[in-house]
Amino acid sequence: MNGEYTAFDPARDVETVARMIALSFGGTPEKSKDWLAAGGHENLRVVRASDRAVASLMRIPMGAFFGGRSVPLLGVAGVAVAPEERGAGRAAFLMREFLRTAHEERWPLAGLYASTHTLYRKVGYEHAGHRFQYTIPFVRIDATEPKEQGFTVVALTDQDEPEVRSCYAAFARRFDGSLDRGPYIWSRLRRLREDVYTGFGIRDAAGTLRAYIHLTQQRTPSGRHDVSLSDLAFLDVESGRRLWKLLRDFSTMGESLVFYGGPSHPALQLLNQQRHEVKLKDDWLIRVTDAKLALESRGYSAAVRTNLHLHIDDDILPGNSGRFVLRVDGGRGAVEKGGNGSIRLSPRGLATVYSGFNTPTQARMLGLVSGDDAALEAADSVFARSAPWMSDMY
Ligand SMILES: CC(C)(COP(=O)(O)OP(=O)(O)OC[C@H]1O[C@@H](n2cnc3c(N)ncnc32)[C@H](O)[C@@H]1OP(=O)(O)O)[C@@H](O)C(=O)NCCC(=O)NCCS
Repeated sequence: MNGEYTAFDPARDVETVARMIALSFGGTPEKSKDWLAAGGHENLRVVRASDRAVASLMRIPMGAFFGGRSVPLLGVAGVAVAPEERGAGRAAFLMREFLRTAHEERWPLAGLYASTHTLYRKVGYEHAGHRFQYTIPFVRIDATEPKEQGFTVVALTDQDEPEVRSCYAAFARRFDGSLDRGPYIWSRLRRLREDVYTGFGIRDAAGTLRAYIHLTQQRTPSGRHDVSLSDLAFLDVESGRRLWKLLRDFSTMGESLVFYGGPSHPALQLLNQQRHEVKLKDDWLIRVTDAKLALESRGYSAAVRTNLHLHIDDDILPGNSGRFVLRVDGGRGAVEKGGNGSIRLSPRGLATVYSGFNTPTQARMLGLVSGDDAALEAADSVFARSAPWMSDMY
């Protein structure tokens, strides 16, 4: 009944999968074909049954920052089942096979935005971070002028791309959950469907790029316009203040500024008034696909030195199951088999604790983790960071 989880074959599958994507997410089969090509046909997987694709997904290779280090993360988008095939366990099979192969390929983490939680929780994903939308009327932007002299605003070109990426990485690694973007995400920041985004950078007197934005404008019925940012990064207070001045200069015709981030955003903390609106767009989910690698690849506070005795119960990825000791020392983690298993985690518990979305003690309250107070409080100190978020949608 389940079929076979296999690579996408453009000659056989493109019409069927484009139809499935269009019927699942709206849009047309033609636009869906463009999206399949943009994601890379080599990143598509299908479930084939009776010689026909009945379910599909797109793999998005990238990473995410946790504890200041980039951890490889395999994103998923475009999970779709043909309407006539729904309700028969196709998507659950697709996701289980996806996870099995991600584990075999030694991806530490998988991530996604979910349209329904039931499906993904069944296979071990759990809430791991936020994405909020901020809206702020231009006339309410009140930021202190930078004291530093010599900043210049530049229109970004393709030549600036390497500097843009290193500016982003320096910014993003400070915020748990932020993506270490791959080509798919980077390309969507410049052009997403009909919207084209223009880049502006802030260079200091030495010529170093210290902040940048990518923006697009939408006319409002009044003839003015809103400005939306697909990306924003800055390295320090002075360049952040100069960035706000650049944005405020849109206020003569600009109505509102829209951008994305976590429960708060460091740029908003530079404003002298709290006049923005915040709306939850989505929580995103992760699944730990290789527990040892995931725990060893992330960073930890260098001030914490402890051993955690974990017992992971993972029916879908048996290679993750069992007792492990996580030794945290000098900002790094090392995992060995064994120990007394005093902290017991389901895959969902491991996901939410790993990201810092829930502390281990909170996850126990939610039935995702068990253990006594002493063990869990030690674990709280290992995973405690600021609330994880990302600005990107995939
Ligand atoms: C969501 C979708 C992929 C599910 O496909 P499916 O093959 O019908 O799902 P399955 O039969 O494998 O169901 C797996 C689990 O998810 C749950 N589920 C499936 N569709 C659901 C829905 N629309 N709402 C809530 N739960 C749903 C099922 O109840 C099942 O859980 P259960 O075994 O505990 O009952 C399919 O409806 C679809 O393509 N929808 C449109 C696109 C979409 O939303 N994709 C996901 C983007 S993140």
